[in-house]
Amino acid sequence: DPDVSDLVAAHLRDVPDFPKPGVVFKDITPLLGDGPAFGEVIRALAARYADGSRRHTTAGEGRTADGSGRHTTAGEGRTAAGSGRHTGSPVPQRIDAVAGIEARGFIIGGALAHELGVGFVPVRKVGKLPGATVQRTYDLEYGTATIEIHTDAVTPGQRVLLVDDVLATGGTAIAAWDLLEGAGAEVVAFETVVELAFLGGRAALGERSVRALHVVE
Ligand code: PRP
Ligand code: HPA
Repeated sequence: DPDVSDLVAAHLRDVPDFPKPGVVFKDITPLLGDGPAFGEVIRALAARYADGSRRHTTAGEGRTADGSGRHTTAGEGRTAAGSGRHTGSPVPQRIDAVAGIEARGFIIGGALAHELGVGFVPVRKVGKLPGATVQRTYDLEYGTATIEIHTDAVTPGQRVLLVDDVLATGGTAIAAWDLLEGAGAEVVAFETVVELAFLGGRAALGERSVRALHVVE
């Protein structure tokens, strides 16, 4: 969506030589600080997905099994409105949870999980999660890092949407994707607000499904 791409571009700030000389850092804090823009970005990310709790109900059934109707209402509201705004978009993919990568992926992912009415799985920097974890170490654009999830963070076959703010070299996204899959999840896609195409992350992710709202060439 060119409008959403332009919206993101208009709310990015280039910070030269951060976090080290030679890196031009794409700062999303102006986007986060603008309520309408932030909301539009979350709705754009949500547009392709629907609450997976509806998978066992037939179309038009109208209520969740627990009778609350809360997830159903949220799912219907978002997807119906979304398909109206995003004409030609495919049938929403059902997801059961959103996983977000610390720290900026928590901001995007938490809002997105709420928008979709599903739970949130934190993919954290090492040493922060209290329970038993599985870890991966990977190379960053600037250094190395280790991330982890709780061993019971997902259930086998759970359909998880992975999100982050920026795709750079792809190391973080690959590590998170493989952690979730290793724990039994079916990772539906990786969604990011900004893709730094010149760092080759999309190619590094290989066959994994990748979408970005705004691509920096
Ligand atoms: C940034 C960004 C992504 C990752 C992308 O996180 O938020 O998670 O790097 O880089 P990659 O594609 O080369 O792996 P950072 O580690 O700076 O952490 P933060 O969100 O805590 O600031
Ligand atoms: N901006 C934000 N996050 C990032 C960047 C960047 O330029 N590179 C790696 N993560």
